[in-house]
Amino acid sequence: MEKDFDVIVIGGGPGGYVCAIRAAQLGLKTACIESRGTLGGTCLNIGCIPSKSLLNLSENFHKAKKDFDKQGIEIDNIRLNIEKMMSNKNKSVQILTKGVEFLFKKNKVSYIKGKGVLFSKNDVVVYNNNKKENFKAKNIVIATGSDIASIPGIKIDEKNIISSTGALSLSKVPKKLVIIGGGYIGLEMGSVWSRLGTEVTVIEYLDHITPGMDREVSNEFQKILTKQGIKFKLNSKVNSVKNQKDSVIIEYTDNKNSKNEILEADKVLVSVGRKPYTEGLNLAKIGIKKDSKGKIEVNEKLQTSIKNIFAIGDVIKGPMLAHKAEEEGIAVAETLAGQAGHVNYNVIPGVIYTSPEVAAVGKTEEQLKSENKPYKVGKFPFLANSRAKVNNETEGFVKILADSKTDKVLGVHIIGPHCGDMIAEMALAMEFGASSEDIARTCHAHPTHTEAIKEAALAVDKRPIHF
Ligand code: NAI
Repeated sequence: MEKDFDVIVIGGGPGGYVCAIRAAQLGLKTACIESRGTLGGTCLNIGCIPSKSLLNLSENFHKAKKDFDKQGIEIDNIRLNIEKMMSNKNKSVQILTKGVEFLFKKNKVSYIKGKGVLFSKNDVVVYNNNKKENFKAKNIVIATGSDIASIPGIKIDEKNIISSTGALSLSKVPKKLVIIGGGYIGLEMGSVWSRLGTEVTVIEYLDHITPGMDREVSNEFQKILTKQGIKFKLNSKVNSVKNQKDSVIIEYTDNKNSKNEILEADKVLVSVGRKPYTEGLNLAKIGIKKDSKGKIEVNEKLQTSIKNIFAIGDVIKGPMLAHKAEEEGIAVAETLAGQAGHVNYNVIPGVIYTSPEVAAVGKTEEQLKSENKPYKVGKFPFLANSRAKVNNETEGFVKILADSKTDKVLGVHIIGPHCGDMIAEMALAMEFGASSEDIARTCHAHPTHTEAIKEAALAVDKRPIHF
C-alpha cells in the first residue's frame, strides 16, 4: 500500500469520508483512516441512519395499528416482530456503509483500517490489532467525531442503562422507559419506543424541551408529544440511577421545590449530549490546542494550532450535525486544492425526525430579540393547508422571521408534516439572501405542504390567502 499522501483524513464519518472524496476528486492523493471496521461513522452505523430507519418503521406500525381502521383499511391481527424490524434496520445500515466503501474505490481514496495516531505534523501511525504502520501526509484532517456524554456517577452499561446505541438495538419492547434529556436523541428514540408500546417519561433539566429551538415551536412540539402519550418532567435534575435486579431506580430533584422524587423503569436512556472524541490522537504531545469543552480550536480556515492539520465536524465548535461536518469537509478539501473553501454557518438547517417533524434554519425569535434586531413574523398553520388536511396531518405551522426594514429572511421554523425536506427550500432561499416577498412570489405547486411556506411568507406582509 501507498505510504505517502497529499491528505490523510483521520475518521471515516460524514465529515471525514466526504472530505476524502472531495479531496480525491480535486486530484489530491488521499487516504482515510477508520478504526470502526465500517465506514460512515456514528451517523451511518449507530446514529442518524439506524434511528431514521426505526422512526420510519415504528411510524408505519403505529399508523397501521391506530389510523388505518379509521381510513377504511381493515387489517386483522397487526403484530410487531421486533427481530425482523431490527434486521431491516441493520440491512439499511450495512448497504449504506458498504456504499461509502464503493465510493472510496470509485474516487481512488485509500481506505486504511485501524486507529490513527498523530506522531508529528506529517506522520500518522496506524494501529490495527497487533500491526503498526507508518504513513506520511502533507496535510492531515482530524474528523474523529464525538462520543456519548453521561452524568457524573451514572455508568452506561448498555443493558438497563443505555445510550442511543443501546436504544437502537433493544431486543424487546420495554414496558417503561425513562429518558434523561429532552433533546434530539431523547425525543427521537422516545417516539420510536412509545409508538411500539413503551410508556415513556422524559426528564429534562430545563423548563422546556429542545434547548436552542424557537420557543414557540418547542412549546407546540411538547404539546404534540404529550398528546401522543409521552410524559414530561421538566425543570428536573437527575441525581442518580441505580440498577436493581430487573429494573432501574431514577432519583431526581424537582428544581422548583427542591423535592427529591423517584421513578422506576425497565430501561433508562441517557441522552444528555455528546462530547468531542479525541482520545488517543496524541494532540497534546504534538501541540494541538483544545478549548475548555475539549473541542479542538480552529481558525476560520478550519486549521488547528498546527497549520497543515485541520479539524472538522463534532470535534470542533458548532452544532454536532452530520451535514455541518460534510460542509466543513468539503471546505477543507477545496482549501487544500487552492480553492476558496467556505462554510456559511448562518444557514445550517436542523431537523428532528419525529412525527410531525421539526425543522429550522437561521435565527430564532429569542436570538433576534437578544440581538435587538427588528423583525416581522409570518405564520401559517397546516390546518389551513389543503394537502395536510386531506392527509390528516394538520398539526403544526410554518413561521418565517424577516428583517423589519429589508424584509430579508432571517430564520424559518417549521413543525409539521415533511418539514425536514421542506426546510431545504428555506435554506436555499436564505443562501441566496431572499426576502419574504421573494418566497411569496414564487409559484408553489398545489396541493403540496410547501404552500404553507408561501402562505407564511405572505403572512409576513399580513396578506395570506387561505387563513
Ligand atoms: P441535546 O444536546 O440535543 O439534548 C440534551 C438534553 O439533556 C438537553 O435538553 C439538556 O438540558 C438535558 N440535560 C442535560 N443534563 C441533564 C440532567 N442531568 N438531567 C436532565 N436533563 C439533562 O443532546 P442529545 O439529544 O444527547 O443529542 C446529542 C447530539 O446529537 C446533539 O448535538 C444533536 O445535534 C445530535 N443529534 C442530531 C439528530 C438530528 O439531527 N436529527 C438526531 C440525534 C442526535
